Formats: sequence, structure tokens, C-alpha cells
Amino acid sequence: MTDHCTVVNHPLVQHKLTIMRDKATPTAVFRQLLREISHLLAYEVTRDLPMTTMTIDTPIQPMEAPTLDGRKLALVSILRAGNGLLDGMLDLIPSARVGFVGLYRDEETLEPVEYYFKVPAELDTRVVIAVDPMLATGNSSVAAIDRLKEAGATDVRFLCLLASPEGVARMKEAHPDVPITTAALDERLNEKGYIVPGLGDAGDRMYGTK
Ligand code: URA
Repeated sequence: MTDHCTVVNHPLVQHKLTIMRDKATPTAVFRQLLREISHLLAYEVTRDLPMTTMTIDTPIQPMEAPTLDGRKLALVSILRAGNGLLDGMLDLIPSARVGFVGLYRDEETLEPVEYYFKVPAELDTRVVIAVDPMLATGNSSVAAIDRLKEAGATDVRFLCLLASPEGVARMKEAHPDVPITTAALDERLNEKGYIVPGLGDAGDRMYGTK
């Protein structure tokens, strides 16, 4: 844990993550666990979200009560695996606006290639939480955040399930203002750019492709 990278080592998160890492875990269970973990990670990454108040009537008396300023939040899924984290985040923050950045990783160069970009208006006024389960080389995450900043985002945070030390370092170098929240910081990357010990290809494990 550093200022830049928060590891959520809550027992429930770690228990669920272990089941997800196991290669014997079937697709449907993997997806369900990712949704459950994303609730717990969402709790951590939203600790200091902007609040507002609203007037309500309790059964006893009127009250000016705290409420989340949900319209000021943008969740941005880095496709396609980001959608697994996004779904759980939306369970908790249904009024958040949602964007998508489509990037695939060129398996030869490991460089990201953009094929889709659609984000909410007025990104400069929002807290933007970019989500992608795997922070591996960091290339896709850095490219996605480059694009979000080009579109006006100034307050960006990054949420993932697993991070590599290489990915965290790359993000810190390119975007030192973007804090990272993750369920685990693994050992390293292998020669193919996969996180070790990791959990394999998150998109394939979520959707049963290969
Ligand atoms: N993307 C994945 O899905 N898994 C890795 O280990 C690295 C990148």
C-alpha cells in the first residue's frame, strides 16, 4: 500500500479472489464473484465522493439529509473486461453516468489499439472512475486515461482487481495524479504480459471465450 496504490486486503475480497484465481472455477461463478468483489472495491474507491443534501420527511420531522451527488460521477469501463467491474459498481451507484473506452491489446507489441470511445458530457466536472480488472503492462490503462484527460477529465481514479508492480509503476510515471485501488498486487508480469500468478485472461474467464 502506497499513497498511489491502495490494496483492499479485506478478508471477503481475498477469499473471493482466491476462488476467482483457481482455474477450475467455472465462468458463471467467476462472473458472479467479480460482481461481488466489485461491490467491496466500490466501497473503498468511493470513500470521498462528493455529497449533497436533500430535504426529506422522516416519520418524526423534516430533515436536511446527506445524499450522494451521483450525477457528478462517471464510471468508465475499459472494454471488454471492465464491464465485469462496471456492473457491480452500477449495482451500488445506479445514477452514475457511464462511459466506455474500447481498447484491445496487440498480442505482438502488447500496445493498446483504440476502437471505441464514448463518454458522458462535462467530464471536467465529474469524478471519473476508470475500471479494468487487470493492470498488467499498464499500456491500456495509461492510454485510456490519456483519452479521458483529452476529453476533459481532471479528477480520475483507477479501479482494478489485480495489478502488477510493472503496471503500477507505469501508471505512476504517466499519471501520478491518478490513484489506483486494487484487490491484490501480484509478483510480476510474464513474457507474454500476463500477471503472475494472476488469474489468466480476465475477459476470457468472464465470458467463456478462448
Ligand atoms: N489481461 C488479462 O486479462 N490478464 C493478464 O494477466 C494480463 C492482462
